[in-house]
Amino acid sequence: MHSTWLLTSLSLLLTPLVAATPSSQPAHAVSQVYDTTDRIPLPNIGHIAAHDPNIILWDNWYYLFQGGVGILIHRAQNLSGPWEDVGTVLSGPSVIHTQNRTRPWAPTTIHTNGTFYCYYTLSEHGSRNSAIGVATTTSLTGKSQDWTDHGAIIHTGNGNGSDIYPFNVSNAIDASFITDNSTGQSYLNYGSFWTDIWQVPLSDDLLSLKDPTNPDAVHLTYLPEQKQRPEEGSWMSFRDGYYYAWFSHGKCCRFQKFPGRGKEYEIRVGRSTNVRGPFEDKDGVQLLDGGGTVIYASNHGVVYAPGGLGVLPGNDSTATPDILYYHYLNTTIGFTDEDARLGWNYLKYEDGWPVVIEGNDIGNATTSNAGSVISAPGGFALTMAMSLWLYI
Ligand SMILES: *[C@@H]1O[C@H](CO)[C@@H](O)[C@H](O)[C@H]1NC(C)=O
Ligand SMILES: *[C@@H]1O[C@H](CO)[C@@H](O)[C@H](O)[C@H]1NC(C)=O
Ligand SMILES: *[C@@H]1O[C@H](CO)[C@@H](O)[C@H](O)[C@H]1NC(C)=O
Ligand SMILES: *[C@@H]1O[C@H](CO)[C@@H](O)[C@H](O)[C@H]1NC(C)=O
Ligand SMILES: *[C@@H]1O[C@H](CO)[C@@H](O)[C@H](O)[C@H]1NC(C)=O
Ligand SMILES: *[C@@H]1O[C@H](CO)[C@@H](O)[C@H](O)[C@H]1NC(C)=O
Ligand SMILES: *[C@@H]1O[C@H](CO)[C@@H](O)[C@H](O)[C@H]1NC(C)=O
Ligand SMILES: *[C@@H]1O[C@H](CO)[C@@H](O)[C@H](O)[C@H]1NC(C)=O
Ligand SMILES: *[C@@H]1O[C@H](CO)[C@@H](O)[C@H](O)[C@H]1NC(C)=O
Repeated sequence: MHSTWLLTSLSLLLTPLVAATPSSQPAHAVSQVYDTTDRIPLPNIGHIAAHDPNIILWDNWYYLFQGGVGILIHRAQNLSGPWEDVGTVLSGPSVIHTQNRTRPWAPTTIHTNGTFYCYYTLSEHGSRNSAIGVATTTSLTGKSQDWTDHGAIIHTGNGNGSDIYPFNVSNAIDASFITDNSTGQSYLNYGSFWTDIWQVPLSDDLLSLKDPTNPDAVHLTYLPEQKQRPEEGSWMSFRDGYYYAWFSHGKCCRFQKFPGRGKEYEIRVGRSTNVRGPFEDKDGVQLLDGGGTVIYASNHGVVYAPGGLGVLPGNDSTATPDILYYHYLNTTIGFTDEDARLGWNYLKYEDGWPVVIEGNDIGNATTSNAGSVISAPGGFALTMAMSLWLYI
């Protein structure tokens, strides 16, 4: 892919300057597979362990949902903490009979019409036997008995409806949610590896597919020329006329064996004026053709494999910016799923493309002169190539 090519050639170009090592080095040379770039800003530290975090702002509290026994809920009045334990969504195993029912993954919670909907995943690493279910509550007290588990919306691999296209070729994990402003129709986005990411319309009660036997799915992202298709963790946001399809690209976890540099998780995006796509990246490459503009990636030799993201919408009337949040590994701490930490950055938009802001100064996100940020790997590569030219 274009931007991957640029990043790869960039890291080769920069090798003498930053003592980085090309990805052909043995994977055990751990310190040499980190990206040491300082062109991508460090995160604001969330001060909480989180893998695939999901955050909503409700009643002046940030509620953080994440995978764990019953789906864990924490809350804080500041994204940098301190976080307090609120409880869990489920008080026992999910009503869905697939995989490990006690430990759902990757929730996405939304609030509408007085009800909170928590879309969650049951799966197992490397398996397509997966399901996306939903639980609801009318209050976020955290007492799990307040939530009602409505069970599965999508099965893949096995289970009801898993023989229907595209459920027979996709992996029902990592749900995200978007409502089409102009029609009021809501959609679930999901998918991981296999055929990457899909979108299906939901019924008006948001608890099932609009038409389970003819799901009217659209394909959102795909890596057509690869055997491994590491795109997952979809998110969709809307701002100023564009829908943004976000996802994580690369290897998420299990870093007992390190992938080549740049093959670990990173956060990519494409946009469309239509909620159903097609989505394309900043270089005009379709997300269905392997496209995706890199918005956040490993940096400073400290932040590794950021992904599992979400976007908290800003508020136009008070000019608060959108916030990108995600998990990352701190290379000085460790590389297990439990080592993943919450990080976040304000976003600003340049020509309608999101740019990650350094620091937690809201003013830096709402003025046009933000400091040391990247706009895109393409732009970054160009800038660096130009400075190298001057340097040489
Ligand atoms: C949030 O926490 C950070 C870091 O602890 C602090 O710098 C910032 O002032 C806090 N923001 C608010 C609005 O309290
Ligand atoms: C399911 O997950 C829970 C929590 O991680 C764990 O204690 C339990 O052993 C798992 N069950 C199976 C059958 O793997
Ligand atoms: C399977 O799904 C269909 C369509 O949603 C539904 O009508 C049917 O009741 C389901 N069957 C079972 C056993 O859950
Ligand atoms: C999935 O379903 C479609 C439509 O029924 C069918 O054409 C296709 O062969 C199926 N694919 C697999 C891998 O089962
Ligand atoms: C819906 O449209 C209005 C008016 O254009 C806009 O202000 C708002 O941000 C949109 N929201 C979403 C979620 O699409
Ligand atoms: C909105 O909530 C009301 C009250 O709970 C309920 O009667 C109505 O069906 C809900 N509407 C939708 C679209 O879910
Ligand atoms: C924006 O913030 C103001 C002040 O906090 C609030 O009154 C308003 O409802 C918010 N608007 C949106 C769209 O969230
Ligand atoms: C990484 O961990 C080190 C040591 O605990 C800490 O000093 C540093 O602030 C952390 N950085 C980030 C971005 O988490
Ligand atoms: C805001 O941006 C300026 C210029 O890049 C930078 O020096 C400053 O540290 C930033 N503020 C914060 C709080 O990060």
